[in-house]
Amino acid sequence: MLSPVIAIILVILSTTVLVLRHKRLRTLPPGPPGWPIIGNLFDIHQESPWIAYSNWSKTYGDIVLLRVLGTPMLIVSSADIALELMDKRSVIYSSRPTFIMDEMTGWGFNLALIPYGQRWRNLRRKVHEHFHQIVTSRYRNKQTKHVHAFLCQCLNSPERQFNYKLVHQLLATTIMDIVYGIEIKDMDDDYIKNVVESLEVFGEIKQPGKYWVNYMPFLRYIPQWVPGNTSAKYAAHSRPVVEEMVNRPFNAVQDGEQTSNDCVAVSMLAKIELQPDIEKRKEEETYAKHATGILYAETTFSLLQAFFCGMAMSPDIQQRAQQELESVVGPERLPTYDDQDRLPYVQAIFMECLRWMTTAPLGGSHSVTQDDYYNGYFIPSGTIIIPNAWHMLHNPEEYPEPDKFNPDRFIKDGMINPAIRDPTTIAFGFGRRICPGRHFAKDTAFLVIASILHTFDVKPSIDENGHELDPTPQLRGSAVSFPSPLNYRLISRSEAAEKLVRATEL
Ligand code: HEM
Repeated sequence: MLSPVIAIILVILSTTVLVLRHKRLRTLPPGPPGWPIIGNLFDIHQESPWIAYSNWSKTYGDIVLLRVLGTPMLIVSSADIALELMDKRSVIYSSRPTFIMDEMTGWGFNLALIPYGQRWRNLRRKVHEHFHQIVTSRYRNKQTKHVHAFLCQCLNSPERQFNYKLVHQLLATTIMDIVYGIEIKDMDDDYIKNVVESLEVFGEIKQPGKYWVNYMPFLRYIPQWVPGNTSAKYAAHSRPVVEEMVNRPFNAVQDGEQTSNDCVAVSMLAKIELQPDIEKRKEEETYAKHATGILYAETTFSLLQAFFCGMAMSPDIQQRAQQELESVVGPERLPTYDDQDRLPYVQAIFMECLRWMTTAPLGGSHSVTQDDYYNGYFIPSGTIIIPNAWHMLHNPEEYPEPDKFNPDRFIKDGMINPAIRDPTTIAFGFGRRICPGRHFAKDTAFLVIASILHTFDVKPSIDENGHELDPTPQLRGSAVSFPSPLNYRLISRSEAAEKLVRATEL
């Protein structure tokens, strides 16, 4: 028989072993120490947060854990770990953190913000049907028409400083034409003003740590009149703006007000009309509205600005690309999509723009829906995963001298070097949430880059005394970031180039 003393010692020992094992199994990833309750709330930077996160990765490693008001946030700084978690383990790493300000301002409809589940799947399918690689090639005629109109506007643009709003206009007119068949004249158009205002709301609510109601949702029940309740006031003012962006153009198409029937909304509506069940038809209509309401992506604007700045800074790189265009396309015509595969240097410029001025420096936040372990560390269910895409794309081991604009890093023997990691595998996100607009964005960027380089020289802007301004940009912003300042101008390359552009007006 076991003596009572030995039995007590055995119980104590086995409990200690269990507690220690449990503790070991629950070892959380390292990170900066936080305060009680608020955790690392005040460590979250609103301006250029990727820099602070990148510095932490030097202290704590490739995965860094923060806590904000009880919510764990994992900053991932290695592309391989991001792929391991969000791609290979996508079954549990594909949700999104939900923030109450999304719903309060009307942005909650957006595919990019919806948690993983049936509603996300239905919407994603709708977007995919109209933007997968094969379908997007059908939009190339319209894209070409709008890029040519953009070239004409560039010819008429002032010589000293380029009017960057023309780039906004190009993207807005193209997407409104392809999605709604609606013709936009300029940026003063009411549809566009509304989209711009709605995107400002998006930028505002996505500033990390700005609205406490996001972390303490019960705060939403505090009445609007209570002094300091900025979130409720902001939401009440913004919601009608965002709702108008979703409803107005779609309703216009339903009322037959579009100028072209060859568009995404018309083809969605044609399919919906075949649905005999009225309830299901209504549901489908809502999905269609929500799927079309998100497609004006500012990210492409940011990418193109990186291109213009990079060119203004590097006349030698520009010349190399222009020589490639001269030999492949020749002086008699403008570039087309058929030239794409024979223009590796233009392709390398696109890749370098995406890498150098990382458009979405913190990618898209994912959220994990089950407890998990990585490399011995415990990752609790509900953890928000933040891929530091900027850090990954500025890793000097993969991209030496990462701050330098250098498309040649992707070229070997006149071809794209497959040994260098393609930035598109990081910049467009990961796993099931990877950007569904990436083929469309690549198509737009290719034709703009090739057409501009074929017909214009991009140079630094000049001040009133004729001195060149420094075109070197800094990356600014948070969820979506933009190079600034935009000190460049476009000069027609030759009379022949000007003629090519003018000929598209006919
Ligand atoms: C240079 C251009 C672009 C870049 C760099 C970019 C980047 C991204 C990134 C990083 C994500 C988050 C992915 C993730 O969570 O892992 C994303 C999602 C998304 N993008 Fe893009 N994007 C671009 C252009 C576009 C365009 C042109 C469209 C629309 C036509 C678009 C539509 C979307 C949508 C709907 C989502 C949400 C997907 C989901 O949550 O399931 N993007 N994009």
